[in-house]
Amino acid sequence: MSIIFDEKKRIFRLDTSDSSYVIKIYDEGYLLNLYYGKKIPDCNLSGFETRRRNASFSLANPVIGETSFTPDTAPMEYGCNGAGDFRISALAVRNADGNSVTDVRYRSHRIYAGKPSIPGMPSTYVNSDDEADTLEIETVDSVTGLTVTLVYTVFKSVPVMTKSVRVENGSERELVVERAFSCCCDFPTMDFDLVSLWGSHACERNIERRPLAHGVQGVESKRGVSGHSQNPFAAFTRHGSTEESGDTYGFNFVYSGNFSALAECDHNASTRFIMGINPTDFEWKLIPGGTFYAPEVVCVYTDGGLGEMSRVFHRFYNNNLIRGRYKTEKRPLLINSWEAAYFNFDSDKLVGFAEAARELGVEMLVMDDGWFGKRNNDKCSLGDWYVNEDKLEGGLAPLIERINALGMKFGIWYEPEMISPDSDLYRAHPDWCVHVPGREPLIGRRQYVLDVARADVRENVWNQMYEVLSANKIDYVKWDFNRNISDAGSALLPPEHQKEFFHRFILGTYELMDRLVTTFPDILLENCSGGGGRYDPAMLYYSPQIWTSDNTDAIARLDIQFGTSLCYPASAMSAHVSANPRADYKMKGAVAMWGTFGYEMDPRHLSDEEKELFKSQVRDYHRYYDLIRYGDLYRLVYPDRSGAAVWEIVSPEKDGFLLNIVTVCSFDYFRLIVKPRGLDPEKYYRNDSDGEVYSGALLMYAGIDCSNSIWGDHSTCVMHFTEVPAPENE
Ligand code: DGJ
Repeated sequence: MSIIFDEKKRIFRLDTSDSSYVIKIYDEGYLLNLYYGKKIPDCNLSGFETRRRNASFSLANPVIGETSFTPDTAPMEYGCNGAGDFRISALAVRNADGNSVTDVRYRSHRIYAGKPSIPGMPSTYVNSDDEADTLEIETVDSVTGLTVTLVYTVFKSVPVMTKSVRVENGSERELVVERAFSCCCDFPTMDFDLVSLWGSHACERNIERRPLAHGVQGVESKRGVSGHSQNPFAAFTRHGSTEESGDTYGFNFVYSGNFSALAECDHNASTRFIMGINPTDFEWKLIPGGTFYAPEVVCVYTDGGLGEMSRVFHRFYNNNLIRGRYKTEKRPLLINSWEAAYFNFDSDKLVGFAEAARELGVEMLVMDDGWFGKRNNDKCSLGDWYVNEDKLEGGLAPLIERINALGMKFGIWYEPEMISPDSDLYRAHPDWCVHVPGREPLIGRRQYVLDVARADVRENVWNQMYEVLSANKIDYVKWDFNRNISDAGSALLPPEHQKEFFHRFILGTYELMDRLVTTFPDILLENCSGGGGRYDPAMLYYSPQIWTSDNTDAIARLDIQFGTSLCYPASAMSAHVSANPRADYKMKGAVAMWGTFGYEMDPRHLSDEEKELFKSQVRDYHRYYDLIRYGDLYRLVYPDRSGAAVWEIVSPEKDGFLLNIVTVCSFDYFRLIVKPRGLDPEKYYRNDSDGEVYSGALLMYAGIDCSNSIWGDHSTCVMHFTEVPAPENE
C-alpha cells in the first residue's frame, strides 16, 4: 500500500513514485497538512504542526486551550470559513440558521486499492486497481450535520496525487454550499514563483512567472467556461528553479467551468493554495441526504523543475485521462475546410479539397461550420442541425460516399450548446436560451447560449445530432463553443436554485459529450472553443484532441504551443499547416508536427514544389508519429527569450530523438549551440541528415553547433537522431 496510517501518531502518509504527502489528525479532530514534497521514509514532523506567530489576536479552541495551536496559523488540511482560520477558505456552507460558520473535523477514514470515479463528472482513472491507492477521510461538522469526505488518490508509477471532495447533508435541515474547493494545500514557506497561463482568443496559454507576495493572488474564470483568459492550471516552483531542476508543484483542475486557483501568503511567510469551482455566482442547495461532488484536481510534484512537471502531466494524461479508441489508435491526418472556404462551399468544392489532399497523403476531410440550416455566415441557424441541401445536394450521404470512395474518412462540425436568434429552434423555443427575466441577453458572434442545464433542451439537441450521426458514416466530430456566458439563468430553475446554473450548465455539457462518446465510440471527438477557449483536462476526458488556437501563424503558435505544453501532451494539441502568410511551409510543417498534425487550406492549387514538400511532411508525420505521441518533451529554448525556439522529443527508450529549431529573429543567433537533454550518455546517436555519430554524453554536455543549419529569420531545422552501436574506434 502506498498509503499508510500510523495509528499511534495519528498520521497518514501518502506516497507516489517520488513524493510524499502527510496529514495528521490533531487534537479535537483538526486535520493538519504537515508535508508535501520529495518522498520521505518517515514522518517525524511535529515541528510543522503549529506556526507560532499570530497575525493579530490568538483564537483558541476552548477544549484544547490557549496553547500554540490556533486554526489561524496551523497548516489546515481543508481550511473552513468562520471558525478561526482567517485565510482563504476551501469550504463555506450556510446552515438553516443562516450563518456560514463551517468547521469539519475528522470522523473516520477508509483506504483501498484503485480510484473511484465522480458521478456525472470527468476525472482521471486507473487502468487497473494496482496502479493507485485511495484514501477517503470523512469529516463532520458536529453542529450542522454537514459531512465532507476528502478523497485522495496516489499513483505508484508517477508522482501524481489527485484530490476531490464530496459534501453531504447528514442533517434534517437544508444546507447551502457556498464554496467547496477541490484542493487545499498549506505550504510552510512562500519562497515560490507562481506559474500560470494567461491568454486571449488567438493568443492562448502564455506562460507567466511571478514571485509570490503577501496577500491573495491567482487566476480564475467567471466566463462560464474555463476560457481563453486564464487556464485552470497553476504551478509553484521554488525561487531559482529552472526547466531542469527545483521543487515544482503543478495543479490542474479537471473542470470546464468557472474556476479559482488562489494562493494566499500570510505573515508567517506560509502559503495556502486552493483550487476549485469559483464561488462567485455559485451556490448548491443540499436537501437532507443530498450530495454535492466537487471536481478533481491533479497534483504533480517533482524536484525536476517545470520540464519534468510537464513530462509527468503528459504521461499521466495519455495513460490515465484520455480514453476511447483513439487513446492508442493512430489519429487520422486531416484537412479542415474552415480556413480554406469558411462558409462558402458545396459538395463539389469539398470533394475537390479531398481529391487534392488525398494526393498528398491526407486521410480525412473535415467539413467545418456552414453545412446546416441556412448557415451561409455566422448570423443564423445554430440549433438547426439539419443539412443545408442548397449546399450539399442530396444531403450528407452522397457527399460522404464520394469522400469515402477516395479512401478518406469524413468529419463534421457542431456547436451544440449555442442557438442563433435567427433559427427555427429559437423561434419555436425563445426561452431555451440562457437568460434572466426582464433582461435582453447579451449577444456574442450573433448567438445566444443554449440552456443545456435543462434536460428537455439537451434531449432536443441530442436527438438532432443523433439523427445525423446515426444515419451517416461520420468518423470525427469537431465540437465548438464560440462565446462566454452572460445573463446566467435558467427558465426552469426556481429562484433558490438559480445560483446553481453555471455548474448545472457544465454538467449538462458533460452529459451530452458522454452520450456522444458512448453512443458513437468510433467517432473521434475534437474539442474547440474559438480555438483553445476550453482547453482543460475535463475536455480531454471526452475529446482526445483539442484545437489549440485559431491562430495558425507558425511564429505565434510557438508561444501558444510552448505554453500549452506546460501540462497538456502533444497528443492533445491540434496543429495545422495553413496558408497564413508569415512563415514558409517548411516552418509551418515543423511547428504543426509537434501536435496532432493536419492541414487547413485550399489544397487544389499548390505548385509542384509545394506538393512535394507536403508529401515529405506527410512521410515525416508517419515516421515520427510514435516518437511525438509517446516521447518525452524537452523545451530547450523558449521562443520569448531569444531569437530561436528549440524543442526536443526523446523516445521513451532513449533510442532516438527529434530536435526542432526555428528562428524567430536570426539577429541574436550569431552562434547557436544546442544541448539536447534526456539522452542516455552511454549510447551513441547518428544524425540521420548527415550521418555524423555522437555519444549521448557529447550531445548533452558539449552540444551541437547548429549555427550553419539555420539562416536568417524564420528558418527551420529539424534533425532526427537514431541510436547506433558505439563506433569501433571509441
Ligand atoms: C471557431 C473555431 O476555432 C474555428 O476553427 C472554426 O471552427 C470556427 N469556429 C467556425 O465557426
